[in-house]
Amino acid sequence: MKTPVIILNFKAYRESSAERGLALARMCEEVAQEIGKSIVIAPQQIDLSLMAKEVDIPVLAQHVDPIGEGSFTGHISPAGVKETGAIGTLINHSERQLSHDLIRLTVEKCKEVGLESVVCANDIEMGKVAASFGPDYVAVEPPELIGGDISVTSADPDIVSGTVEKVKEVNPNVTVLCGAGVKSGEDVRKAVELGTEGVLLASGVIKSPDPKAALLDLALGL
Ligand code: G3P
Repeated sequence: MKTPVIILNFKAYRESSAERGLALARMCEEVAQEIGKSIVIAPQQIDLSLMAKEVDIPVLAQHVDPIGEGSFTGHISPAGVKETGAIGTLINHSERQLSHDLIRLTVEKCKEVGLESVVCANDIEMGKVAASFGPDYVAVEPPELIGGDISVTSADPDIVSGTVEKVKEVNPNVTVLCGAGVKSGEDVRKAVELGTEGVLLASGVIKSPDPKAALLDLALGL
């Protein structure tokens, strides 16, 4: 992923699923091309292949399982995600949390198949643990701020700067992102000022009455 970056997590909102999700993905592609900023989308698993084929911006899975290929009914294989054209995956989002061991194994599997790994962390301590597994990105997102109206960069700037500091101490090759409550270009500017190389966000765009205007404002903060 090119940084600084905005990752739009489609989650499982109605507004970001199926044809509505494809229209949202095309809007993200338009904004990225119009203003030359790095915008990445993380659609639901069921829409991943379609989105990766239909738009020319990077696509992430929201989760993968640390499995190979074979008899793994109901699992999401990293190799299969890679074949859709996705470039990587979120891991351990607070809405899809994993044990430390599963996070480590999933990061390893992503490396094996060539998927970029964005490991989400609820706090600074989890950010340090995540960094020790050698992912490409660690994204700190305090769960209590997710979906709210106050950005983590205002509500708790120290968790952002502290995660940057501690993650870099553990593994200077890991890029730090942040998320939760990010709603404006100013919030994005603050995230970068606090040492991150971008943000994860969802409701500020997906639940906006004008998603394109919301994304334009956010992306101009990069
Ligand atoms: O992965 C990003 C997401 O959890 C943030 O959600 O709605 O606070 O932007 P939101």
